[in-house]
Amino acid sequence: MAQYDTFARFYDGVNGEPEDRVRQILAALDEFYPSAHTVLELGCGTGAVLAGLGSGFSLIGLDQSRAMLDVARRRCPDARLLEGDLTTFDLGTRVDVVICVFDTLNHVTDFALWRAVFARVAAHLVEGGLFVFDLNTVGRLRELGDVAPWVHDFDGHVLIMDVDYTAAPLARWNIRVFEQGDDRRFALHAETILELGVELARVREALAGDFDVVLESDTRGARPTDESTRAFFVARRRGAGVAAPV
Ligand SMILES: C[S@@+](CC[C@H](N)C(=O)[O-])C[C@H]1O[C@@H](n2cnc3c(N)ncnc32)[C@H](O)[C@@H]1O
Repeated sequence: MAQYDTFARFYDGVNGEPEDRVRQILAALDEFYPSAHTVLELGCGTGAVLAGLGSGFSLIGLDQSRAMLDVARRRCPDARLLEGDLTTFDLGTRVDVVICVFDTLNHVTDFALWRAVFARVAAHLVEGGLFVFDLNTVGRLRELGDVAPWVHDFDGHVLIMDVDYTAAPLARWNIRVFEQGDDRRFALHAETILELGVELARVREALAGDFDVVLESDTRGARPTDESTRAFFVARRRGAGVAAPV
């Protein structure tokens, strides 16, 4: 079983619709690549973001969790949805935009593989194409590790999410869902998800080979630091020798 296979059927109930995430992505496309048509999402999960982007794009989603993809297939019947690993994928095509959001990159737990992801993204973008991604910063993971577990009621069930960052830079997200059945008994579903904290200077350095960063933003629109709640990046593919955006 892949990570998220257990959590998949509760994921949208817990997280709700990602309106802010979608708005931020659309604003970036509007500003930096208004004619973008083809969009690939790495770690598309349940397809919540793809569904939010709407029908104006040709959409591809890639994820390693079959259970997440099953949800995505129902939510995004027109998208091309593929099972695969975002550190090694090869689609044999190029797109205008690659997105990788809601700290999906942090799920890659070895920084050498972040470089592999950046290389895969570069290989799949047209010249001038955009790589749009966000990260949990090391400061945010430390903060999540320090606070009490998050307890959340949803759809009659109960979620307890406990982040352990004592083995930094690896954060362990211990997720427990108590699912309430028709007989009002609760069944426990547990899953641990790992995230890697990486200093932003290392991310910028790793991007520099193939990309120009055109936007970096924290949740308030300022340049993010390692203490920001979240870091949002828009990076433009340099010199792939294929059609540039107009
Ligand atoms: C936090 S969820 C984000 C889902 C979606 N992007 C969203 O915003 O709701 C992370 C997703 O990345 C996927 N994922 C994690 N590591 C992956 C990998 N190496 N290859 C492909 N998918 C991966 C997980 O299966 C999960 O669906």
